[in-house]
Amino acid sequence: MSLTSCGRRRINMACGKLLFGKKTAEDAREIYEPHEDSFLLEGAILRENLAGKKCLDLGCGSGIQSKAMFRAGAHEVLAVDINKVALKETKRNTHFLGQRPKTLRSNLFSKVRKKFDFIAFNPPYVPSEAIMWKDVDGGERGRKIIDRFLAQVEKHINPKGVLLLVVSSLNDEREIVEILRKMKFEVSFAAGQKIFFETIFVLRAVKK
Ligand SMILES: C[S@@+](CC[C@H](N)C(=O)[O-])C[C@H]1O[C@@H](n2cnc3c(N)ncnc32)[C@H](O)[C@@H]1O
Repeated sequence: MSLTSCGRRRINMACGKLLFGKKTAEDAREIYEPHEDSFLLEGAILRENLAGKKCLDLGCGSGIQSKAMFRAGAHEVLAVDINKVALKETKRNTHFLGQRPKTLRSNLFSKVRKKFDFIAFNPPYVPSEAIMWKDVDGGERGRKIIDRFLAQVEKHINPKGVLLLVVSSLNDEREIVEILRKMKFEVSFAAGQKIFFETIFVLRAVKK
């Protein structure tokens, strides 16, 4: 297991009440327990006006960001994760005034056919030698998933669409800002929090 520098933790789905129906402990997988980065992103989402917007919660985990999107007025939310247990948990946890997200199992955008007005992604960004834990391990400089995401996001966001992306100072956030600016996003820092020896940020990028 890689060093989880910001104390990122997982919910062990094999531990009692979170284990689903007929599943055995062997089948059970883990999902990401909402942590500092989740709450930072949730706060940034709640400051958005998402009335009438088509939203994507990428790497939905527990579903915390899908719920925040509905609370911010989202018209519809698609919750995507590579982990099918995360999708089940999202369906179970996320309901707001009768609204629920649609869910889709996909490796980033591989199965996503739509464009969105709003995308939020709290990616696995912890630098690691290998990708052992898909919810947190980000490979070299923590950039493996972030860089793949950046290469694909442009095709899935509408003009004037807003992207909120969690990054760490360990990922070289300035370089990520430059990549987004080259793709004609207007970038600002929506939130930041120092945690031990890194700072986590929520980048806000608006497609021009
Ligand atoms: C740090 S967790 C964030 C969970 C939740 N959004 C939150 O803020 O608490 C990252 C999530 O991304 C998912 N993920 C990792 N790699 C992915 C990929 N290639 N495609 C889709 N989801 C992925 C993980 O399964 C995990 O649920």
